[in-house]
Amino acid sequence: METVTLIQGDGIGPEITDAAVKIIDAAGVKVDWDLQTAGADVIEKEGTPLPARVIESVKKNGVALKSPVTTPIGKGFRSVNVTLRKELDLYANLRPCCNIPAVKTRYDNIDIVVVRENTEDLYAGIEEMIDNDTAHSIKIITRKASERIARFAFEYSVKNNRKLVSVVTKANICKLSDGLFLESARNIAKDYPQIKFQEILVDNCCMQLVQNPCRFDVLLLPNLYGDIVSDLTAGLIGGLGVAQGANIGDKCAVFEPVHGSAPDIAGQNKANPTAIILSAVEMLYYLGEAAKGAMIKKALFNTFRQGIYTADLGGTYSCTEFTDAVIKNLQE
Ligand code: NAI
Repeated sequence: METVTLIQGDGIGPEITDAAVKIIDAAGVKVDWDLQTAGADVIEKEGTPLPARVIESVKKNGVALKSPVTTPIGKGFRSVNVTLRKELDLYANLRPCCNIPAVKTRYDNIDIVVVRENTEDLYAGIEEMIDNDTAHSIKIITRKASERIARFAFEYSVKNNRKLVSVVTKANICKLSDGLFLESARNIAKDYPQIKFQEILVDNCCMQLVQNPCRFDVLLLPNLYGDIVSDLTAGLIGGLGVAQGANIGDKCAVFEPVHGSAPDIAGQNKANPTAIILSAVEMLYYLGEAAKGAMIKKALFNTFRQGIYTADLGGTYSCTEFTDAVIKNLQE
């Protein structure tokens, strides 16, 4: 039996985590869940939103399924998500974005993979007030991290039969930082002549993703652009409720949806659990449980084919009703 760290998160986190755990159990995968709490709720008791026990648990188990954790806006503690990724050196944020059967969207044939650098850029959190009216935020880009993520993108492309890697920057303006990211990608691209390599500025990339998304294959981006663009690509396939993700390092991996804690619908049994279910399916593939993963995916897609949707997709089903329908399909 695999032991997997389970980070329940907050907001809609507990609701969608519950759905994923029930579905994995119903599929007959034996998992020993090592439940770890993090975020604002643990600060009072443990003095930090990310206690060392959470990091230790993921290090020990090598794999985690994680729900979103709220980060205070404009003040308060540093993001638990950013810290976790940094502490565990989960340098690659992988966000595949593919049309889902029976989920109606503007475009068919979307099949884009966002590869986002996950450890540096403006997320280093180095900020200071110069005076009352001036703030500085430091953008860190290193050759080491840039080449590492570029190699990850090309290796992923080779293994998954992808044809085109587009590196996305603003190197015309951030000449040194984005310039270094771009130069690193160019250097690594030389080792993969079988994969087409394209350079594109992030503003133009966004426009083209909206107008003609099918021309893209693998997108390689620094942290901030990757964060923003992956919400855009989520929108192309039905929204954040269906967008899966994974944070991958050399020693461990944390699977989590692209979306946040959705405080606007938290506690109302309205959340769409699809994003975490698909993230959990990827986790099962990672753990060598491909057949069970495929079984869950099939049951999930059949649920949509039966016209069962949560509110974000225009349906009337609650999170638990949707989950029960997936479980029923697993048993058929
Ligand atoms: P959000 O992704 O939580 O929500 C944006 C919109 O999408 C909301 O209208 C929400 O209701 C909807 N939505 C998101 N997930 C959904 C789901 N599964 N089903 C149905 N609707 C869904 O983004 P927001 O509001 O900007 O951030 C809220 C909090 O989440 C912030 O504190 C932010 O820092 C945090 N966050 C955490 C992440 C993580 O833990 N990895 C990632 C992104 C944000």
